[in-house]
Amino acid sequence: MKKFGLLVSGGSAPGVNALIRSVVRAAENKRVEIVGFQSGYKGLVENKYRTLERADTANIISLGGTIIHTSRYDDFKNSSTRQKAADNIKKLGLDGLIVCGGEGTMEGAYLLSKEHGINCIGVPVTIDNDVYGTENSIGFDSAVNVAVSSIDKIRDTADSHGQVFMIEVMGRTTGFIAMQVGIATGAEFVAVPETMTDVALIYRHIATVGKGRRTIVVVSEGDESGGAVALSNLLMECYKIESKVAILGHLQRGGSPTSFDRVLASRFGEAAIDSLTTGRKDVLVGDRAGSLEFTPMYEAYSRKKQLPNWLVSLSELLM
Ligand code: F6P
Repeated sequence: MKKFGLLVSGGSAPGVNALIRSVVRAAENKRVEIVGFQSGYKGLVENKYRTLERADTANIISLGGTIIHTSRYDDFKNSSTRQKAADNIKKLGLDGLIVCGGEGTMEGAYLLSKEHGINCIGVPVTIDNDVYGTENSIGFDSAVNVAVSSIDKIRDTADSHGQVFMIEVMGRTTGFIAMQVGIATGAEFVAVPETMTDVALIYRHIATVGKGRRTIVVVSEGDESGGAVALSNLLMECYKIESKVAILGHLQRGGSPTSFDRVLASRFGEAAIDSLTTGRKDVLVGDRAGSLEFTPMYEAYSRKKQLPNWLVSLSELLM
């Protein structure tokens, strides 16, 4: 009987439990045992694991968070730490490792494979949706929907009082969440790191589109302006316009996943098992135009995923 390890690393995202459920069930179907490491690479290094069985995955598809926990573990950048991980994998007799997370997680997997010959498969999990090699990462759709429903509510207040709101959404270095959310909420302006944010343009939108009254500006936390607080201060400094700030923050990382994320996670989980059992390794499982796509792990962590031009121009057209 084959045995694969499974870990979740980096920022948590809705849909991970649906992924774990799919991995465990698809593995059972192929008579493969799954060992789940506690808190990502940290658990792998500290040898904290448990066998995951079908019963462990009952009633978890709708749960946020992750039943095996996750962590950001900087120590994994050290080769001596990775050596310990590789030793544990060999001692446990694992035939492969499924790593779920963002680009940092994929870099760890690439190094484990390159330095120690561990067969790894990556699954993109991050609300930021910034992993190269996939159109969708698990958690993105759920995070966007949390932000959209929050902003719809804020708009009621903005409208009633004729206020300007700067609403900050997550996205450490990219504007995928902000763009999607901006278009879906009909925001009057969207500020993302991929384009230069011009406060004079925001002012013109407030003065014209918002008729000096209510305006929703969606700001990506990674925007070069410094985020919603900085933009709000700048607007006051330059144009004496007051704006309220709402930072949605970690709200976007929790809660029950959307049906889209549950299905995506189920599909990626099955594809990860299918890959390892058929000899495909050191790739990231992703999707493109509705089909599965496999990208070499090196590219998945080293190449930058670009915000599609159509998103930016659509958002500008509709502002
Ligand atoms: O990577 C996902 C993400 O939620 C980013 O959007 C955000 O910048 C970061 O994680 C926050 O991480 P932490 O919870 O560790 O502060």
